[in-house]
Amino acid sequence: MGPPLAALLGSLLVCCAGLTKGLKITSTDQPMVEKAQGEKVTLPCTFTISQEDTGPLDVEWVLIPTDNLKKEQTIVMYSADRIYNDYYKEMNGRVQFTNPDPKSGDGSIHILNLKSTDTGTYQCRVKKAPGVESQKIQLTVLVKPARTKCYIEGSQETGSDLILKCASQEGSPLLSYNWRKLTGTKELPATSLLNKDTGELSVKNASQEYSGSYSCVAANRVGTDECFVVLNVTPPINTAGTIAGAVIGTLLGLFLLAFLIFCCCKKRKEKKYEKEVHHDIREDVPPPKSRTSTARSYIGSNRSSLGSMSPSNMEGYAKTPYNQVPSEDFERPSGQNLNFTPSKYDLAYKIHDITVV
Ligand SMILES: *[C@@H]1O[C@H](CO)[C@@H](O)[C@H](O)[C@H]1NC(C)=O
Repeated sequence: MGPPLAALLGSLLVCCAGLTKGLKITSTDQPMVEKAQGEKVTLPCTFTISQEDTGPLDVEWVLIPTDNLKKEQTIVMYSADRIYNDYYKEMNGRVQFTNPDPKSGDGSIHILNLKSTDTGTYQCRVKKAPGVESQKIQLTVLVKPARTKCYIEGSQETGSDLILKCASQEGSPLLSYNWRKLTGTKELPATSLLNKDTGELSVKNASQEYSGSYSCVAANRVGTDECFVVLNVTPPINTAGTIAGAVIGTLLGLFLLAFLIFCCCKKRKEKKYEKEVHHDIREDVPPPKSRTSTARSYIGSNRSSLGSMSPSNMEGYAKTPYNQVPSEDFERPSGQNLNFTPSKYDLAYKIHDITVV
């Protein structure tokens, strides 16, 4: 045995002595654990102690908050042959050492009935002075999908577009949704499009054969939840005809109203015009020097408007200067005179004429 070999053996001895020297955590380093809400988890922490570690054995589990400013929380402790497990109110009664005697080298714990708030980084610290060792493990508590609701958005008439919607009110990401048809052909509508992330099944141009029961299953890594909905595609009520009828009716009514207003206006204008004519003649036309046809036409128009016998008409009539009124009768050839059958108003004229004359 040469000096080099001795040196090698010596260094190996030192090395191995160094390895076995002192406290050592032996559970495999498992950085992450995922569990569903309500389940139980075992956080492992096995260790070996050596003769050199002469101090008392302490095994402590702490929850390290994600927020660095927050204090870390002791969960459970084994110290001087005693177990203390009422540090953390939120885990009261749900945490225990897997081995009632951690001194044997097993400081693993169980956490029962997991809650989503139990998510965090846990650290196992084993101390037997001068030996100190620790190991971290990240626990994620996933919530199963739950309270999943199915419903339909949009009109369920043939030819319309509608959406079958599905959403879980509980459940950790990533949730994915899947729709199935339970009745008939059991095939999703040909014109449908499924979005697994949003849970929407878009159906275009609905047809009656799409009717039936549908189910939606929401799933994440730890569980599933299902809901059901019934689609009933019906022919549309013929509202088009009703609407067209109503529109046409309204238009007709409006047209009639417009016509009436037009007529009314026209009549009023005519009346006004008549009056104007009446005044024009009285004021603008000088008394005829000779008896002209103007006067005759004036009488004629007056006669027609006298049909209504309004007081204003009568007034205008009464005010007519007598000397303007032609005494037609006197002018008329005797032959015409014979055929003349005087009306009430003609008689009135005559009376005036007579009084003037
Ligand atoms: C809607 O579906 C009917 C048959 O169900 C078809 O005749 C029609 O062309 C479709 N319309 C559109 C816009 O796709």
